[in-house]
Amino acid sequence: MKNIAVIGTGYVGLVTGVCLSEIGHKVTCVDIDKQKVKLLKNGVSPIYEPGLQELIEKNIKKGNLYFTNNYNEAFQDVEVIYIAVGTPQSESGSVNLQYVEEAAKTIAHFINHSTVIVIKSTVPVGTNEKVLEIFQNNISSDIKIDVVSNPEFLREGSAIYDSFHGDRIIIGSDNKNAAKIIEEINKPFQVPILITDTRSAEMIKYASNAFLAMKISFINGIAEICEKLGANIEEVSNGVGKDKRIGSQFLKAGIGYGGSCFPKDTLALINIANEVGEPFNLLTSVIDINNRQRTKLVKKAKERFGTLRGKQFTILGLAFKPNTDDMREAASIELAKELINEGGKVKAYDPIAIDNAKKILNSSIHFTDSIESAVKGADAVFIATEWKEIIEFPLQRYKELMSSPIIFDGRNCYSIEEMKNLPIEYYSIGRPSINQFLYK
Ligand SMILES: NC(=O)c1ccc[n+]([C@@H]2O[C@H](COP(=O)([O-])OP(=O)(O)OC[C@H]3O[C@@H](n4cnc5c(N)ncnc54)[C@H](O)[C@@H]3O)[C@@H](O)[C@H]2O)c1
Repeated sequence: MKNIAVIGTGYVGLVTGVCLSEIGHKVTCVDIDKQKVKLLKNGVSPIYEPGLQELIEKNIKKGNLYFTNNYNEAFQDVEVIYIAVGTPQSESGSVNLQYVEEAAKTIAHFINHSTVIVIKSTVPVGTNEKVLEIFQNNISSDIKIDVVSNPEFLREGSAIYDSFHGDRIIIGSDNKNAAKIIEEINKPFQVPILITDTRSAEMIKYASNAFLAMKISFINGIAEICEKLGANIEEVSNGVGKDKRIGSQFLKAGIGYGGSCFPKDTLALINIANEVGEPFNLLTSVIDINNRQRTKLVKKAKERFGTLRGKQFTILGLAFKPNTDDMREAASIELAKELINEGGKVKAYDPIAIDNAKKILNSSIHFTDSIESAVKGADAVFIATEWKEIIEFPLQRYKELMSSPIIFDGRNCYSIEEMKNLPIEYYSIGRPSINQFLYK
């Protein structure tokens, strides 16, 4: 059992802290956000993540898990400190390391004994070394600080599951003893552990995210061609994914990837590549395709309606993916903006993300508390997130709630065969339109 502090209680820091406490470590999570810490001290998760709330309650009760705004309290007798603060995109597209550097300076200010620092945040190659320099310049030389890279691969929406069933844990360090300490901490997860040098560990994270984003944009590129040629992307993707060298995951066509990682990490890697004089044009195309996908449904709606002015539209699903309340870079944002720009009126529903959506989306959007009230009276429905509740909403209800049911499905939730038998105009991604202009 180790005494651990985690700086940052966002999607990654909180899940990391909670899961480390679940495997028996004593963890203190520290955040500058007083509101978050207040909620957490009361055993309430500030984010929605399946299974997280239960584990918070359980481990607070067991005495393994603490929350504080006070660094002195968090660093008392601590052996390992994780940095899991945000690394957002700066205006230029490069990574803003301000929060990581501030966290390191704060550690340097408060720590008075030897400690291993783990960088969980996604950071450009060379950052671990920069952080070590901060310690070397700000801490007396009799206090030994090691820095270890331990990038995170969890997926929001299944973050707890992923922590216990991940494909690998990457530990990057140029110091064998420090790597060993972090390896021992992680062993109870029973996930394969790969130890690398620091720079390679940092690069593994960017390369992984860029590759996954590339798979999504690749299949979306194929989807565009399928649409023109009358092929069905779902069949194509299924056939392609059966090849073990390719694999079936991340081959789902749709209105593009979003979230707090793929958009910023692909852009960051382009910047990193440019800085070393090795332009990575493939990734530029990945981003271009993704941007094009975002506006696909509106383009289809304009082809269908001519003008969108005065029409009543519904967006079902707002979060960037199902099972999360995270709205960062969600495809629904661009969709809603475009529909409003084109003169449409928008109602929207999401099972979990409405509070976060209200902070980001146009105030003219009317949010509803059920799919039924969102769909009622709409001229067309746009599906932006494939929540189970949305997929399972009975299709015949569309006919009852809309006089002329028209669905633009950005996530290919239904099979073409199923839709052919229903009195619904159905437009999806990379597949033939069904009952096109039925209600024209
Ligand atoms: N969200 C994901 O799915 C995911 C997955 C893998 C990796 N990552 C990476 O993990 C990192 C964190 O991402 P996130 O989504 O959890 O971010 P987040 O924005 O949800 O959380 C960051 C937290 O850090 C806190 N914070 C900032 N500075 C602080 C400081 N000096 N002291 C204490 N707390 C501080 C903020 O208040 C916030 O609560 C990023 O580098 C991200 O790229 C994210």
